[in-house]
Amino acid sequence: MVPSGTKGQTPGAVRLEKDGSVAVLVIDNPPVNAGSWDVRNGLLAALRASCADPEIAAIVIIGAGKTFVAGADIREFDKPLRDPQMPAAIEAIEACAKPVVAAIRGAALGGGFELALGCDVRIATLDAVVGLPEVTLGIIPGAGGTQRLPRLIGSAPAIEMITSGRRVGASEALRLGLIDSIVEGDLRAAAVRHTRTPELRKRRIGELPIPAEDPQAVAKAAVAAHARARGRAAVKEAVEAVRNAARLPFKQGLVEERAVFQRLRESEEAAALRYLFFAQRDATRVSGLENAKPRPVRRVGVVGAGLMGSGIAACFLDAGHAVTLVERDQGSLDAGMERILAIYRRAVETGRISGEEMTRRLSLVASSLDLAALSDADLVIEAVFEDMAVKQALFRELAPLLKPGAVLASNTSYLDIDVLAGVTNRPADVVGLHFFSPAQVMRLLEIVRGAATAPDVLATALAVGKAIGKISVVARVGEGFIGNRIYSAYRFQCEFMLEEGAYPEEVDAAMLAFGLAMGPFAVSDMSGLDIPWRTRQRQAATRDPKARHPEILDRLCELGRFGQKAGAGWYRYPQGSRRGEPDPDVRALIDAHSAAKGIKRRRFSAEEIQWRALTAMLNEAALLLGEHIAERASDVDLVMVNGYGFPSQKGGPLFWASRRPPEAIAAALDNLAVASGPAFRRGDYAAVLRQLTPRFS
Ligand code: COA
Repeated sequence: MVPSGTKGQTPGAVRLEKDGSVAVLVIDNPPVNAGSWDVRNGLLAALRASCADPEIAAIVIIGAGKTFVAGADIREFDKPLRDPQMPAAIEAIEACAKPVVAAIRGAALGGGFELALGCDVRIATLDAVVGLPEVTLGIIPGAGGTQRLPRLIGSAPAIEMITSGRRVGASEALRLGLIDSIVEGDLRAAAVRHTRTPELRKRRIGELPIPAEDPQAVAKAAVAAHARARGRAAVKEAVEAVRNAARLPFKQGLVEERAVFQRLRESEEAAALRYLFFAQRDATRVSGLENAKPRPVRRVGVVGAGLMGSGIAACFLDAGHAVTLVERDQGSLDAGMERILAIYRRAVETGRISGEEMTRRLSLVASSLDLAALSDADLVIEAVFEDMAVKQALFRELAPLLKPGAVLASNTSYLDIDVLAGVTNRPADVVGLHFFSPAQVMRLLEIVRGAATAPDVLATALAVGKAIGKISVVARVGEGFIGNRIYSAYRFQCEFMLEEGAYPEEVDAAMLAFGLAMGPFAVSDMSGLDIPWRTRQRQAATRDPKARHPEILDRLCELGRFGQKAGAGWYRYPQGSRRGEPDPDVRALIDAHSAAKGIKRRRFSAEEIQWRALTAMLNEAALLLGEHIAERASDVDLVMVNGYGFPSQKGGPLFWASRRPPEAIAAALDNLAVASGPAFRRGDYAAVLRQLTPRFS
């Protein structure tokens, strides 16, 4: 129903429409109603006008389109914010004697939810999502969120919600008291009706006392948040800000909050996280797909029920797809189904899903020992043993069984998709879908575009990535694609440093101190040294004889030190321990190796280790960008952050480098060239840097 009423003129992206004695303020700033200057300016003007208008008894704030307000306009954050800012609009709501209703549809996030918290009532549709995700952008809420939320729901839940940045759906939001009611049907009409309820009055959250709560619960929430912070300043600051709500008068709490927000907004950490926010969206804009329409994907087949296959199956079950899991023998199939069951049992135990939801998801999976069971699948992903001959044999058999139009994907982490596609009669249907382990947890999906991959097949892969909630990055064919290729260069350089004087525990400690989730040698022990050993043996014949090659890993493997599973690798693992201890035998082996190679060992500082390792990543990234394996520099950073434990607050190796003095990077690359020997190839860093100049200048 089109509401009766008149449309008023206000500046900016807010329309003031009158519905009898109700002023309806429609925020209209497509695509997501971000709270840009236009919105803030329009909102303030419309609020002032409505408040001053004697014909108006109440005000409704609503978003045009599918969203309320998706938060501040992040594109404005690289420069000083122009007045009016969001707190001024919220102050105007509080200063106005007339009740203001927030009518929420879709996302009310960050400044959008803070705006709603400034209103007297919040009503929402069932599809509404509210939250304060600022910490994910390296800042804290800056328009009263840390002061109003604890007054509404208590300090402990507020700490949890703000420091996790969690998005809360309408039903839970109602339960928590974040919204006052859920409405069905026309939201705007319901909001206008709501203004006529007799009990409606001003209810300024800032005037409410913080609900009584157990100080232990608040302390516990703060400890849990600090544990999750992993070096992110914003999380710690958010805890303090929420605690201020109980310590300071409301107005002073607001002033303190705004000061922290402004300070953090200008930090390198916040700039890095903003960069990643847009990188994630840019990554889905792939050249050549302008007219490609994704093929529909409902039924999915997964061949190989190992750790990877079962994790991949769970990703699709989570998103509501029907999945058929296929294995060669009953034992492996049963083990795979058991693994899927274990994933969901754990999700229920930890409260992430309900028992009914587990039953629903498990009802979507079927299993078979026969590849023919996949004849009606829209997409089939192979996750069998990482060996070209094995995968080729499977593709040869599978391709003729699949229906026309079905997409055939490989989960290979480094093999040549073109060679694989070449054994089928339908190479245009073949694409790489490289998941990371554990597939149901890790957010990265490296999509590999083969030479013959059809545009609509690539578009299908991107659509599938979105449907299962992954961060998708497209790579072209090349050994190790983007991530494993860079990781391998990094790992080689770390091994060189061992030959020159460092020890595994020193390199790992330096990279942990930089912020990586794990050091390279701890990772190597976890994933097994035998795999790179075999790869290096395979590559030995074609390796440039001039290339410097690290050999300590070979020596360890010759001693059977294959890593954690063998109880020994770069570290030792006494009595099956999962925590490695520095091993004097490894130190002795490294010392002897350096001596045999005639290398005089020297000490490495943590900073030198970090720079050497990071420039190795940087150089390999520049090389693969030059070869068009990755489409853009920010794609590389997305891969390293989301698949390889690179700290998001540093933005990725390329963003990190772009923030360092160019002459320091040039010197580090010179140093890398000398250390790497005569076969070293230098990437075009200047070209990378050109891509990384600020997008908002
Ligand atoms: N500021 C500026 N632009 C924003 C934005 C924001 N807060 N939120 C989204 N956008 C832009 C995106 O960059 C994208 O632009 P593009 O089409 O040029 O790539 C467009 O809006 C659509 O966003 P997208 O995320 O692709 O749409 P979606 O429908 O999948 O999701 C949201 C919508 C609102 C859930 C999601 O955009 C979101 O989570 N936004 C950020 C919320 C946030 O963190 N707010 C706190 C800010 S302090």
